[in-house]
Amino acid sequence: MLDREILLLDVVDGLPQGEAMDINHMLSERGVDVTIRGSNDYSDMEGSDVVVVVAGSGRKPGMTRMDLLKINAGIVKSVVSNIAKFAPDSIIIPVTNPLDPMVYITHKVSGFERNRVFGMGGMLDASRFRQFIHEATGHSRNSIRAMVIGEHGEHMLPLTRYSSVSGIPLCSFVPQPKLDAMVKNTREVALKVIQTKGATVHAPGNAIASMIEAVVKDQKQLIPVSTYLDGEYGYHDLVLGVPAVIGRRGVESIMDLDLNDSERRTMDAAAESVRTAVASLDI
Ligand code: LAC
Repeated sequence: MLDREILLLDVVDGLPQGEAMDINHMLSERGVDVTIRGSNDYSDMEGSDVVVVVAGSGRKPGMTRMDLLKINAGIVKSVVSNIAKFAPDSIIIPVTNPLDPMVYITHKVSGFERNRVFGMGGMLDASRFRQFIHEATGHSRNSIRAMVIGEHGEHMLPLTRYSSVSGIPLCSFVPQPKLDAMVKNTREVALKVIQTKGATVHAPGNAIASMIEAVVKDQKQLIPVSTYLDGEYGYHDLVLGVPAVIGRRGVESIMDLDLNDSERRTMDAAAESVRTAVASLDI
């Protein structure tokens, strides 16, 4: 559990205050000594160590994440300039979609070093990939490790060669058609959740919590995050999902994996998609 104070900030008057009361009542029954506060005032975030940005519109059934680009870019810019003003020493974890362009905006607008800005996308995609591996193989979720890099979007790259059950590579014992189906499902399942219940909630919330935990407990976890690349994977001035060691300083290092031709093609398509999106914005 996180043993810190948590501030919920929202532009809607009363909403964060109401959520804070409700969550405090829950924590009180569970005996957890974390203080939750609600506010509509950015200056209350002074001294924050980690700031998670979820502000913006969510996808409606049928929309891609990229369809949110224009509307959310303006919102994220304004939120991030306030973070830079009131919490200049923080680590920012963007979650707003389309994720990779939003991380790029956050990095540029905040002016923060790249290790202090990394988005939540790959970790959630990996949790979905793990679920499909579990369903297809029947092995315990505990033994399953999965890696998903690339765009948190259409050009997501679930890495079957770097995913395993207890260290045994998936591709060594799962037939290719089954692997292809898992990859496809991992790319598409978020939209199915949105079509059925309106939004994804629990899995993203959990992935965010795991990332914050990696920072505040200085865990040095190797997890996929969306981060600014400066030569890694052959890309410059671009944000994409890659495996990174996450600890107290944020992104402490990036692992530059060897990609085969087909993986490289998807990674290049992801890079092209994010580059085009970013180029269309006025940052
Ligand atoms: C999802 C949204 C958060 O994948 O992008 O659930």
